[in-house]
Amino acid sequence: MDTSQLHGRTVLVTGAGSGIGRETALLSARRGADLAICDVNRVGLEEVEAAARALGRDVIARPVDVADREQMRSFAEAVHAQAGAVHLLVNNAGVGLGAGLLDTELSDWDWIVAINLMGVVHGCHFFVPPMVERGTGGHVANVSSMAGFHASPALVAYSATKFAVLGLSEALREELRPHGIGVTAICPGIINTPITRAARARGALENPEARERLVSLYQRRNYGPDRVAQNILKAVARNRSVAPITIESWTAYALKRLSPRLAAWAARRMAAVTD
Ligand SMILES: NC(=O)c1ccc[n+]([C@@H]2O[C@H](COP(=O)([O-])OP(=O)(O)OC[C@H]3O[C@@H](n4cnc5c(N)ncnc54)[C@H](O)[C@@H]3O)[C@@H](O)[C@H]2O)c1
Repeated sequence: MDTSQLHGRTVLVTGAGSGIGRETALLSARRGADLAICDVNRVGLEEVEAAARALGRDVIARPVDVADREQMRSFAEAVHAQAGAVHLLVNNAGVGLGAGLLDTELSDWDWIVAINLMGVVHGCHFFVPPMVERGTGGHVANVSSMAGFHASPALVAYSATKFAVLGLSEALREELRPHGIGVTAICPGIINTPITRAARARGALENPEARERLVSLYQRRNYGPDRVAQNILKAVARNRSVAPITIESWTAYALKRLSPRLAAWAARRMAAVTD
């Protein structure tokens, strides 16, 4: 799918009120796309809506929790009634959880699986069938993570959801190939977004000093969500299956294939940064 100019196209982004989702929505709008956007963060969502409207784009913006099936169903009905099937679906909304298994509550599992995995499932379930029916192709970009192939002991539940999103995306890619719809798993590394403050933390990671070390690491890494947005649209244009983003994500991706033991060692070292 050509993403160099998106006039006449509708791009849907979940979690568009902040970070990677916000920048992907705004970059798409700058390239001409009309938007369908949602988030639980109403303030952030309204800002993105206003900025896209100022560019002259049509925007459907709804406060929607991607984990809530009925909210997603009603959002999809509104989008399809107003704009028809979307051309690019970006399932981006997600939350972080810094914890090993021993510190993870079952309620944490329910929460993160509902958003990070079922949110993506809901996006695909409600928005892909009309794309197939329209019969003119399109693209699905599911935001997984470097933690979707590089398992960290400090991110056990988060990794589990992101591995699942990667697997879902690879399977869906083959299913949708005959329909001319591409599917890409986006796997960012360390991206400086508000997720470092919003993420839940348990155990040793609950300590405010560990949080500050994490925030500082992400700030020093200084890779912004605007660059991720550029790379998402590039990966869609190239119809990549898996798109690691940032050098650390590419390195971990290569390392996992070359030497799983070295990759596991590197994951332990990275997790120790916040200890
Ligand atoms: N920042 C990173 O280093 C990084 C790395 C790899 C992957 N990711 C992934 O990128 C995606 C975007 O994260 P970000 O870094 O931009 O974080 P962010 O916190 O800046 O943005 C996430 C957005 O999703 C929204 N959201 C959260 N739960 C939601 C729900 N239930 N329904 C609807 N919206 C919801 C939030 O309100 C927020 O606006 C996530 O899936 C995240 O896991 C981030």
